[in-house]
Amino acid sequence: MIVKTTEFIKSATRPAHYPEGDLPEIAFAGRSNVGKSSLVNVLVNRKNLVRTSSTPGRTQLINFFQVNDDFMLVDLPGYGYAKVPLDVKRQWRPMMETYLSKRENLRGVVLILDIRRVPSEEDRQMLSWLRSFGIPPIVVLTKCDKLSKNERARQGALICKNLELDKGEVCFFSALSREGKDGIWARIDALLGV
Ligand code: GTP
Ligand code: MG
Repeated sequence: MIVKTTEFIKSATRPAHYPEGDLPEIAFAGRSNVGKSSLVNVLVNRKNLVRTSSTPGRTQLINFFQVNDDFMLVDLPGYGYAKVPLDVKRQWRPMMETYLSKRENLRGVVLILDIRRVPSEEDRQMLSWLRSFGIPPIVVLTKCDKLSKNERARQGALICKNLELDKGEVCFFSALSREGKDGIWARIDALLGV
């Protein structure tokens, strides 16, 4: 897809506040600080459409961005950060489960994992939600620039085994070098039927 415009539409925590209309949606999920916002910014060629930060847990709402007249890009709140206040943590689960299970516009979820880490219980939970709700996942292993080619392959294999994914099902990505961007777009386009 050629991105001509990207515009912030709104933030929401519950269905009454989701945008109206029937634009298809692709959501982005992953643990706090994994690099979700950085990935989104690279995909739409913007430096700071979505705020990135070195402080994890900044994004605590579901944020909707419209790309062209084509689809809605949805930045989901990150999970797994210990210092997030307890009431925010309690809201996270029903907020995510409601969005993932009820949102008819949703066509797929980009699940972002740090290539250096073993997937967490929450990562596995997220993938199992997607599987049980029948939402196609696009699994992205990010921060690839931090590893050598050999280490990447090794970590990729470990993560695939851990999550019961085939090797061809994951995309390797770096927000620094932008490698992997085209492959992720190809998968998004396929889910959108572009
Ligand atoms: P929250 O919204 O707080 O949950 O974080 P996030 O998942 O949106 O992460 P964000 O994009 O804000 O990135 C977190 C930190 O990781 C920032 O310091 C980024 O610069 C860094 N980062 C993100 N992607 C990459 C990458 O591919 N390579 C490297 N080396 N650093 C990255
Ligand atoms: Mg973010």
